[in-house]
Amino acid sequence: MMMTANEVRESYKKFFEAHGHKIVPSAPMVIKDDPTLMFTNAGMNQWKDIILGTKDPGRDVRRVDSQKCLRVSGKHNDLEEVGHDTYHHTMFEMLGNWSFGDYFKEGAIDMAWEYLVDVLHLNPADLYVTVFEGSEEEGLERDDEAAAYWAKHVPADHIINGNKHDNFWEMGDTGPCGPCSEIHVDSRTPEEKAKVPGRELVNKDDPQVIEIWNIVFMQYNRKADGSLSPLPMHVIDTGMGFERLVRMLQDKHSNYDTDIFQPIIKEIENLSGMKYGQTEDVDVAMRVIADHLRAVAFSIADGQLPGNAKAGYVIRRILRRAVRYAYTFLGQRSAFMFKLVPVLVQEMGGAYPELPAQQELISRVMKEEEDSFLRTLEKGINLLNGDMDELKAHGQTQLDGASAFRLFDTYGFPLDLTELICREHGFTVDAKGFDEEMAKQKARARNAAVVENGDWEVVKEGEQEFVGYDYTEYECHILRYRKVTQKKNTFYEVVLDFTPFYGEMGGQVGDQGVLVSENETVDIIDTKRENNQSIHIIKELPKDIDANFMACVDTDKRSASAANHTATHLLDYALKQVLGDHVEQKGSYVDATTLRFDFSHFQKVTDEELRQVERLVNEMIRQDLPLDEHRDTPLEEAKRMGAVALFGEKYGDKVRVVRFGPSCEFCGGIHARSTGRIGFFKIVSESSVAAGIRRIEALTGKNCEDAIYLMQDTMMALKGMFNNAKDLTAAIKKYIEEHDDMRKEIERFQAQAVERTKVELLNRASNVNGVKVVKAVLPLEANTAKDLVFKLREAQPENLVAVIGSTAGDKPLLTVMFSDDMVRSHELNAGKIIREAAKLIQGGGGGQPHYAQAGGKDLDGIHQAVDKVIELLNL
Ligand code: SER
Repeated sequence: MMMTANEVRESYKKFFEAHGHKIVPSAPMVIKDDPTLMFTNAGMNQWKDIILGTKDPGRDVRRVDSQKCLRVSGKHNDLEEVGHDTYHHTMFEMLGNWSFGDYFKEGAIDMAWEYLVDVLHLNPADLYVTVFEGSEEEGLERDDEAAAYWAKHVPADHIINGNKHDNFWEMGDTGPCGPCSEIHVDSRTPEEKAKVPGRELVNKDDPQVIEIWNIVFMQYNRKADGSLSPLPMHVIDTGMGFERLVRMLQDKHSNYDTDIFQPIIKEIENLSGMKYGQTEDVDVAMRVIADHLRAVAFSIADGQLPGNAKAGYVIRRILRRAVRYAYTFLGQRSAFMFKLVPVLVQEMGGAYPELPAQQELISRVMKEEEDSFLRTLEKGINLLNGDMDELKAHGQTQLDGASAFRLFDTYGFPLDLTELICREHGFTVDAKGFDEEMAKQKARARNAAVVENGDWEVVKEGEQEFVGYDYTEYECHILRYRKVTQKKNTFYEVVLDFTPFYGEMGGQVGDQGVLVSENETVDIIDTKRENNQSIHIIKELPKDIDANFMACVDTDKRSASAANHTATHLLDYALKQVLGDHVEQKGSYVDATTLRFDFSHFQKVTDEELRQVERLVNEMIRQDLPLDEHRDTPLEEAKRMGAVALFGEKYGDKVRVVRFGPSCEFCGGIHARSTGRIGFFKIVSESSVAAGIRRIEALTGKNCEDAIYLMQDTMMALKGMFNNAKDLTAAIKKYIEEHDDMRKEIERFQAQAVERTKVELLNRASNVNGVKVVKAVLPLEANTAKDLVFKLREAQPENLVAVIGSTAGDKPLLTVMFSDDMVRSHELNAGKIIREAAKLIQGGGGGQPHYAQAGGKDLDGIHQAVDKVIELLNL
């Protein structure tokens, strides 16, 4: 019986569980609070600090999981391949077993073999393994040890040497790394196998001879200077491509033919009316959409919405790539991908409950993003059509690189799309020029973004202990520091042995303060969090680096940000009470003056609801609910307590629970000691951030006080202006009404005046060769002058030339009107003539052939300008 994908995932976890591994959940795919990585791109990311030795693994030194990964940026980036072949993905699941200082090469190799051959019954004759061949440049020998263990299971000609590129796995430019062994499977037909032995196709991009499992023997840490230092313990990190494994087991030649993707592809066929497996373009498009659907949906579920920067921008690009393929090859002119969310949820919701829980949000966000990109796409296509018309007019056939790049940069058109559209119209594109523009932009971005991290200089061995929940000042020493350079700015990052400084995390700003020794004081300008540690940012290193220091937090700032943080918990609780349980926190930011809270809700929050929320929060503030904090609570117990967890957040086995009366949340942040310290809570705005996500901004404490004074001062000033009216609203309303009445009255008077002026001007008009020439300089507003010339034309529809100079205010204005017959018989163009005449008032303007107006700067020239118009007519 063929195993389903869900059964394969289960069997892997169960096998390793039976071998003493603890089954652990996938970490979120979107990484928050790590400046070096936006997305989980390997199963080992969540264990980075254990591998580097900065965190104790505890008792669970063997673990197993299935990790959601996304490889679309940085060192591991497969985006452009996806869809064109049958085995690369943006999002994929990585099955991993881990040993932290427990078994090493032999154990990992034996268990991998047992699982593949004894449990899954893969044919050993189809399996090839690779071992690291060594590297002179790194000073590393061939991995004979791994080769010897493999020799227990496979014949010598199934063991292949691999170079540094394939067989030395590194997380990034720096960080944990080590030699690795990959297991490759040859799934070609017997005839093909007979022709060319599988070993010759390993790592040769043959779609039927592919790597399924990478077993990394983590031994080193790559430092910023490029050197390798040994890790404190040996670690096994294995990563098996789940989609590829399922493909082997289901005897398919493409990952997309397995039950992981087929239901999605079937739905794409249904919705588009097109068939998979008939034309290459359509197949690629369907694969792209099926793949990208997963990446985008899982990111949104993890709390990462498409956006303009960083991780949000990556997600936006993935979604747009899918939209382009749907648009170009499946003829989809309206939002399409969001319609596939139900089938995705049906297929993967069992293993990943975050999907069904947020289905509506995922669909809405996707649809809005698709709609908006389709509008952009249309604008881009119009622009391109314009460019092509221009080329045609000049007899050219090639679109230049800069125009193609503008389409890419502003409208998200990759070169192939522009080429495709151009080709359809008989044009080519200067691809070289495009590449040059792209290289220029990349160079610009590199210059702007380059951050150079030096290596850590160790001052004192040891680990950091965070004491900031209990103290704001603490005696400490510097453990290590490093120099960081960004855009020519240099600063230092410092790790202390004990620190009360909270590093920015979970939407709460990092602490500021000072590091004081007997002889000097150094400002700590910010604190970040990395690898579970507070990293203190300072401008200058202390002169005596080994001194005893006091680390002192700026308590004013901290109290204010703590109060804001506590207020977000109360706000979250109140929103759920008032709007319903569907409210999920989707992001927040708090510092000493800002309180921003994003949450899922599908319509505008009404004024009445906002008021109820405020009342509830202020009620809880007045109750002065004490901070009831539970550190190191086992995860299960925290769940039993009813603590609210966030989707997309990574929680360890032990968590911190923060309670204020009925509000109970998982939280690692700094809070007020009791809600009374918030003082007062006032919402200042409610808005939309994206489809289905609302944002509330609010003030607390002293900031509220300041806002209230500002409001009061404004009110007092207004009252003063209205003679201290008792009912200010009524007084202002009355004033506005009077003002409106007066305006109407003035307009009536002006109309009468225009009427009189018209009659007068017509009477005074001169007659030049049968043309009635009206000219005058009058103190008129622009609208009145316009009104006047149109009235003149009404009264004198033929043989009329009217030129009015106006001098209302301190700016001159010229208005010109010709009757239609004059335009025709004398070939006049008021727009052109006025441009010439307006030079005399240092101005410019334009209009139509019969009517034009031009403003200017020089009042003195107005009479000459009027005469100039008449002169230019050659009557
Ligand atoms: N870290 C290795 C990889 O990502 C094995 O898990 O391929």
